[in-house]
Amino acid sequence: MNFDKLFEPIQIGTLELKNRIAMAPMNMGYTDPLGYPGDQVLAWYATRARGGFGLLITEAVMINPHAWYGGEIMNVSHFTDYRFYRFWGKVLDTVHYYDQCKMCIQLSPGWGRQGHPHVTSPEVYPAAPSPIPVHVDLRD
Ligand SMILES: Cc1cc2nc3c(=O)[nH]c(=O)nc-3n(C[C@H](O)[C@H](O)[C@H](O)COP(=O)(O)O)c2cc1C
Repeated sequence: MNFDKLFEPIQIGTLELKNRIAMAPMNMGYTDPLGYPGDQVLAWYATRARGGFGLLITEAVMINPHAWYGGEIMNVSHFTDYRFYRFWGKVLDTVHYYDQCKMCIQLSPGWGRQGHPHVTSPEVYPAAPSPIPVHVDLRD
């Protein structure tokens, strides 16, 4: 099988990629309980950029401060104030350093009702398509 095409540049709208190798969005579970990603997440993306990816798509990044209060291993990254903007700006600068690897951010309103098992305020409604509750047993 010939993989040459994988290493050819491609234009997607205004985005020019140096090759066609892209990383799908993946939350690796390194985020802290308050949604701050930190150095381990920075290193995760930097390592992939150094390895030669043309495009990295971030893990789902929540624009809703009440996105998730579930199990520790499921902490999600937030994107709700300047600390998070600054963090992702740092990731982007680092990733660009590696031969112009590009990055797309996956913005998410949260995980709907699945993302609100322990919501702290009754005034905050989940961004969900219906009022039907979801029951998730996080011990599995
Ligand atoms: C550990 C892990 C975390 C993931 N996190 C996300 C995520 O944050 N957002 C998303 O849209 N998909 C997420 N996915 C789904 C992947 O992006 C991908 O669609 C899925 O793994 C199927 O692709 P594959 O068959 O190549 O594994 C995740 C997958 C894995 C394995």
